[in-house]
Amino acid sequence: MVEFALPKNSRLIAGKEFPKPEAATRLKQVEIYRWDPDTDENPRIDTFYLDLDHCGPMVLDLIIKIKNEIDPSLTFRRSCREGVCGSCSMNINGKNTLACIKAIDSYEGTIKIYPLPHLDVVKDLVADMNNFYEQYASIEPWIKTNSPAPTNTERLQSKEERKQLDGLYECVLCACCSTSCPSYWWNSDRYLGPATLLQAYRWLVDSRDEVTGDRLDELEDPFKLYRCHTIMNCTDTCPKGLNPAKAIAEIKKMIIVKQEG
Ligand code: SF4
Ligand code: SF4
Ligand code: FES
Repeated sequence: MVEFALPKNSRLIAGKEFPKPEAATRLKQVEIYRWDPDTDENPRIDTFYLDLDHCGPMVLDLIIKIKNEIDPSLTFRRSCREGVCGSCSMNINGKNTLACIKAIDSYEGTIKIYPLPHLDVVKDLVADMNNFYEQYASIEPWIKTNSPAPTNTERLQSKEERKQLDGLYECVLCACCSTSCPSYWWNSDRYLGPATLLQAYRWLVDSRDEVTGDRLDELEDPFKLYRCHTIMNCTDTCPKGLNPAKAIAEIKKMIIVKQEG
């Protein structure tokens, strides 16, 4: 369960309760965080009821149904509905996840939906990801080389070299891990957080990249990397089953090897 921070000087108030659908046989209660910082003094929790016999199976289906049929002002991000774009990340019943790959039936009782914790809220379930993306850009997430490009071929990898990227390339940059990390909550201005560090490791172990030493020098910083205290919330919450805490530990090991070498 992650802590949800309220905007400064605000309190969470009870919101609207929308009517129950008539003659519903599989009624589901859904509570959703609502806040428009431009117009609302306080965030509120609205309560909706849906008949699951007339709804798709995933939490994202339920949110889309609410927007289409009950309250068109409900605001959220989504795109692929396949767990690959990373845009429908939110906090559902206390855990950060991707709404499109979480089945409604995996939650008993009321479903409670909040935006990702400890980020500024743009509106309702849309969190401000600007700092997160700037941190990602700061690690220069592309192959960097010094040697001339080979002629008539691409920069190739062996199967073993390619295997090093498994468990890393699958990251969809949803920020579920970073926004569940207590160190990131308190130091997100300077600590890069688990998502960006997992991505940093992805480029460190790419056999085609030729600036590993420079990348490690950039990361060797008391705040950028060493705010990780191995609390493991990140790995516990990743909806793609990845292990950012392990990637961070591997970066620390690479720095020690470099220092000793
Ligand atoms: S292991 Fe590190 S990155 Fe992951 S939640 Fe803990 S402190 Fe944050
Ligand atoms: S490591 Fe997992 S939780 Fe973190 S950004 Fe990538 S996919 Fe999302
Ligand atoms: S809509 Fe793309 S990951 Fe959920």
